Amino acid sequence: MTTVLPNLPLSTLTETRSPNQQLLPLTAKINDADRLEIGGCDVVELVKQYGSPLYIVDEVTLRTACQQYRDAFKHYYKGASQVLYASKAWNCLAICAIAASEGLGIDVVSGGELYTAIKAGVKPELLYLHGNNKSLDELEYALNAGCTVVADNWWELHTLNRLATDFGIPPQIMLRITPGIECHTHEYIRTGHLDSKFGFDPNDIDAVLEFVAKSQLNCIGLHAHIGSQIFELQPHKDIGQVMVQWFKSARNEYGLHLTELNIGGGLGIRYTESDDPPTIEAWVQAVCDGVTAAFESHGLPLPKLLCEPGRSLVGTSCITAYTIGSSKTVPGVRTYICVDGGMSDNPRPITYQAQYRAVVANRMTANADLLVTVAGKHCESGDILLKDIYLPQTEPGDVLVVSATGAYNYSMASNYNRLPKIAAVLVQDREANLILKRETYQDLIRQDCLPSRLKF
Ligand SMILES: Cc1ncc(COP(=O)(O)O)c(C=O)c1O
Repeated sequence: MTTVLPNLPLSTLTETRSPNQQLLPLTAKINDADRLEIGGCDVVELVKQYGSPLYIVDEVTLRTACQQYRDAFKHYYKGASQVLYASKAWNCLAICAIAASEGLGIDVVSGGELYTAIKAGVKPELLYLHGNNKSLDELEYALNAGCTVVADNWWELHTLNRLATDFGIPPQIMLRITPGIECHTHEYIRTGHLDSKFGFDPNDIDAVLEFVAKSQLNCIGLHAHIGSQIFELQPHKDIGQVMVQWFKSARNEYGLHLTELNIGGGLGIRYTESDDPPTIEAWVQAVCDGVTAAFESHGLPLPKLLCEPGRSLVGTSCITAYTIGSSKTVPGVRTYICVDGGMSDNPRPITYQAQYRAVVANRMTANADLLVTVAGKHCESGDILLKDIYLPQTEPGDVLVVSATGAYNYSMASNYNRLPKIAAVLVQDREANLILKRETYQDLIRQDCLPSRLKF
């Protein structure tokens, strides 16, 4: 018999089941062997079968997050809506296919992400290409594929306008504007313009709208994204009020009837007990209320409302399982426990000092009373996955599970120290399916070239 996690310090299986508020995937359980189960699969057995380290993605958690976004928009917004998955969080065939099967579109930021989404079967009308420096190849590829391009700067507008002649049909675009809302996790400010490499400066908007009105471009709407891992609702509530002014001037001064508003992503998730993000539903309600109030107060028709969450869709659905190896105690300072992965499969701690939580998958109810630091295996002193966390007594061979690793882990992974990229399995209803094969040493040298004069 399995039990719902009882006294696990990182368990937050509480009254609300918004995936982004949990530390572990929604299906997390402890089984009779005192081991962690996800999607009905014993994590230790998964590691035996698929190797270590291993990303384990819980399909129920991912689908639940998609459904909560989609259904909340239907409930709280009177106009049309479309949720897009910001696939930069984790772009691969299976994750794109799951998001698309739940009715989501996909936001991509490169030709490679676009190629993957197309191969996953996503319909072109549900694809949006972002990026502050898209190449000509990427723009042509997107237009050929029938994808909407979110124009980011003047160079791109001019290029797209030139391409319109070649393509014979007006490229469908949106305009990304830096909206002057700056967000940190716990505070935000509104400013006239922001120091950001993305999007048009608000002070340029009149000139941009005038250009677009005279161009061969089919501009369908405006886009803004104000930040990531945001816990406050107010900035996303305010965004409608900021954007509506440009919808109004586009219509009244330039004769452009814009019909779509994309308010970006940014809802935060719980990485540690102290993280307290709002639910997906509360975020959607705030966005819908803000946009509705703004457009109604200006007497404008409601736009089709788009958003593009990444982290809050996929983040909590995945855990990373590592195998514990060596350890080292520096007397009076700390004990290091070392695992078989690190900054190559999760670069967030070394890049942003991101914090995580972990459990030992084969000692789930043991007392977590030892203060340790979990180190990766890379030749980099900063390759520390978890600093000063409490774990039970462990031994080499134990399986350490780090939670909430679905967003910006695989997608930012590297081969640093020539470690092969790790595998990923998708679990649901006691079944596991490989979604990313583990790289081999042969894979590592596949693109290497050895000029003949260097051969001996
Ligand atoms: C334009 C844009 N949209 C969406 C996202 C997704 O943000 P998040 O993962 O915080 O939801 C990002 C992330 O940086 C972004 O730059």
